[in-house]
Amino acid sequence: MTALKNQSETKIYPPESADPGTLRGRLVAVIGYGNQGRAQALNLRDNGVAVIIGNNADGYAERAAEDGFEVLDIPTAVVRAEIVMLLIPDEVLTAVFEERVKPHLKPGSALVFASGYNIAFGLIQVPADVDVILLAPRMIGVGIRERFLTGEGFYCLVGVEQDASGTAEEIMQALTWAIGGLQKPAIAVTFKQEAALDLFNEQAFGPAFGRVLLTAISVLLEKGLPPEAVLVEMYISEEMAYTYQKMAQAGLVRQTLFHSPTSQYGAMSRGTRFLRMGLRRRMSRIFDEIERGDFAREWSGAFARLKFKVIKYFAMRQSINRVENQVREALAMQPFEGYQPAKDINAILEDPEIQEHLKTFRETFEF
Ligand SMILES: NC(=O)c1ccc[n+]([C@@H]2O[C@H](COP(=O)([O-])OP(=O)(O)OC[C@H]3O[C@@H](n4cnc5c(N)ncnc54)[C@H](OP(=O)(O)O)[C@@H]3O)[C@@H](O)[C@H]2O)c1
Repeated sequence: MTALKNQSETKIYPPESADPGTLRGRLVAVIGYGNQGRAQALNLRDNGVAVIIGNNADGYAERAAEDGFEVLDIPTAVVRAEIVMLLIPDEVLTAVFEERVKPHLKPGSALVFASGYNIAFGLIQVPADVDVILLAPRMIGVGIRERFLTGEGFYCLVGVEQDASGTAEEIMQALTWAIGGLQKPAIAVTFKQEAALDLFNEQAFGPAFGRVLLTAISVLLEKGLPPEAVLVEMYISEEMAYTYQKMAQAGLVRQTLFHSPTSQYGAMSRGTRFLRMGLRRRMSRIFDEIERGDFAREWSGAFARLKFKVIKYFAMRQSINRVENQVREALAMQPFEGYQPAKDINAILEDPEIQEHLKTFRETFEF
C-alpha cells in the first residue's frame, strides 16, 4: 500500500473565524427549497439573516411559504438580493442560471454554489463583476438542520473562485457560519477539487463499496445462511453506520479497538487477501476521467439521460430488492417504494442505441 503523504498546506477556517456582521443589511436569496435549500434557509434565518426564497410556484414554494418565508419567482428574487445561493440540482442549474439568474444579477452581488460542478467543468460562465463563492456542506439537508439545532455542526468545503467585491472571503466565512457550517472547522478547496472529490466518491468508492457488499451477501446466501440474518448482519442492523461514526470520532483504523480481539485479528490477518484487486488502477482512472471533464461532457449529453433511465430500471429490478422486500416483511419493517420506472421506459428499451448497450446494463445489475 503506497504510503499516504500528509500534504497539509490546506487553509482551515476555525469556528470563530467569521464576522456575522458582514451579512448585516444584505438580503440573501435562496434559489430552490429542496434538500439543501430548506435546511440552509431555516438556519440562516435562525442566525438573524434576511432571507427570501426564489422558486417555481409549486409544492416547494408552498412549503417555503408555510415555513414563513417570502417566496418569489427566481428572477425577482435574484433582482432583490445582494447574495444569491443556488440550491437546485446541478444538472438543471446550467440552464436555469443562463435563463433566470444571470440576466438579473446586480454588479457587486455574490453568487454561492453548494457544488463546484458547473463552474469546474465550464458549464456556467459568470459575469466578471460578481463574487463567486463555494459553500459545499458535507451533509444531507435533514442533517444540516438537525446538527445545527443540536450544535453538533457539520463540515463544509468552502472557497472563492472570483473576488469582484474584495470582500468575497469575508462573505463566504459569514455565510458558512450562518448556515451552521462553522460549528466545526471549514476546509478551503477549489471548485474543481470539490467537484472531483464529490464525483470520485460517487463514481469510484461508492460503486466499489456496493459491489463488495453485494458480493458478500451473494456468497452468504449461496452458503445457505438465512437471508434475514444476512441482510441484518450486512447493513440493516446499522452497525456499519455506527462503525462509520466511530471511524469519524476515533479514526479509520483505531475504531477497530471498539471491536473484539477475535474481530480485530480476523480482519487484520485476512486483509492481505484483498490487496491486489486492481482497485487503485480503476479508481485512479475514474479520477482522471472526472478531472478531464469526460464525465461532465457525458452527463450533459442526450444519450446519458436515456441511459440513466435504463440503468436505474435494471438497478431497481436486481433480485437483491426482492430479497430485501421479503426480509423487510419478515422483520415487520415499513416497505419503501421510492421508485417508479420512467413512463417511456419500454420505448427507451427499444431505442437502437440503448439496444447496443442492453447486454452490459443487464450484466452490471445481474445479482
Ligand atoms: N443533497 C445533498 O445532500 C447535497 C449536499 C451537498 C451539496 N449539495 C448541492 O446542493 C445543490 C442542491 O441540491 P439538492 O439536493 O438540495 O437539490 P434538490 O433537493 O433536488 O432541489 C430541489 C429544488 O430545486 C428546484 N428545481 C428542480 N428542478 C428545477 C428546475 N428545472 N428549475 C427551477 N428549479 C428547479 C425545485 O423546485 P421545483 O420543483 O419547483 O422546480 C426545488 O426547490 C446542488 O448543487 C447539490 O450538488 C447537495
